[in-house]
Amino acid sequence: MSALFSPLTINDVTFKNRIGMSPMCQYVSNEGVATDWHMVHLGSRAVGGVGFIMAEATAVSPTGRISQGCAGLWSQKHADALKPIVAFQQSYGAVTGIQISHSGRKGSAATALEGGSHLEAEDSNAWETVGPTDTAFDPDGTRLWRAPRALSVSEIETIQDEFVNAAKLAIEVGYDLLEVHCAHGYLLHSFLTPLVNTRDDSYGGDLRARARFLLETVEKVRAVWPQERVLSVRLSVHDFVDGGLTLDDTAQVGRWLKELGVDFLDCSGGGAVPEARGAIGNKTAEQPGMAGQLKADTSLLTMAVGGITEPKQAEEIIASSTADMVLLGREMMRDPHWAFNAAKALGVDARPVLAEQYGFFVGAT
Ligand SMILES: Cc1cc2nc3c(=O)[nH]c(=O)nc-3n(C[C@H](O)[C@H](O)[C@H](O)COP(=O)(O)O)c2cc1C
Repeated sequence: MSALFSPLTINDVTFKNRIGMSPMCQYVSNEGVATDWHMVHLGSRAVGGVGFIMAEATAVSPTGRISQGCAGLWSQKHADALKPIVAFQQSYGAVTGIQISHSGRKGSAATALEGGSHLEAEDSNAWETVGPTDTAFDPDGTRLWRAPRALSVSEIETIQDEFVNAAKLAIEVGYDLLEVHCAHGYLLHSFLTPLVNTRDDSYGGDLRARARFLLETVEKVRAVWPQERVLSVRLSVHDFVDGGLTLDDTAQVGRWLKELGVDFLDCSGGGAVPEARGAIGNKTAEQPGMAGQLKADTSLLTMAVGGITEPKQAEEIIASSTADMVLLGREMMRDPHWAFNAAKALGVDARPVLAEQYGFFVGAT
């Protein structure tokens, strides 16, 4: 009996297994609108047997994107383009999620293909970025990151309204799960971490004040997001830098989120400052264990992500109750059929949705 291939029901949503694809920016959107690439990228993982697919960081406004190629959900046009993609994934038995996001001071960047660093101010694709303060992400580094403008309170409220607008559009698209992105140094995380947020108004100071932007946003989003669907938050659960967020801090934030009706904590890490890079890479293998600690400390369901590549490793994370879902990023890029290959490795009889059409099972040998 495989834990990894056991179903999970949250509210009215049932995940057929505990395997999810982690959100990954694709840089191929057209003014934020999804393209054929998204149908293939997301649809192929549904066909590949995963229980859950999280669409990439999807900006709540044009200036909330990381780069010009990033996805967005701020108008009807964006929603309409996503509808057939979501319907296709669901028709293959995958639970669909979307991560709504604002890039903050890490916006106005070139795509990863073009180097990822900040666009020069005179570049016609560049825009003014915003943050808790006017300190740049990497003021002294070799990569140029322009200084953001510190947000006023009324601008904070406007961005919260944009999150709510994106949530309403996500309902119309038909997503089963909505995730608020508060990780990797983007806007909400930059307010939460003391490494960046040195404001002296009601959105800065102690942990509760730094969490205010996130908590108010989640409260407003939960008010419109249907109770029967799933609400998740991705946190950088550790800043991986002295003086930054610790697991004790993020456990407290997790408890506040739970009180607001959050169902799932997606446990990533790093990204707030250049020394903390680790949202992808060197530090990520520590994260699944951290998801376990936060699960114990908050009683929230958790998603573990970071360096998960092997079926037995994933099985162990679920079987040991370290997390309730494993998310795979880069490994899922390498192998869209990872779930079926994992079923085979674990001796599980996992049937593709069209088993009858194929006439054979690809899970068990
Ligand atoms: C190309 C790429 C794009 C990514 N984009 C996002 C994103 O949009 N949102 C996010 O929260 N994390 C993003 N990440 C981080 C992944 O979701 C994941 O947390 C990270 O890659 C660690 O998991 P892995 O070791 O399985 O790759 C991205 C990672 C990669 C490789």
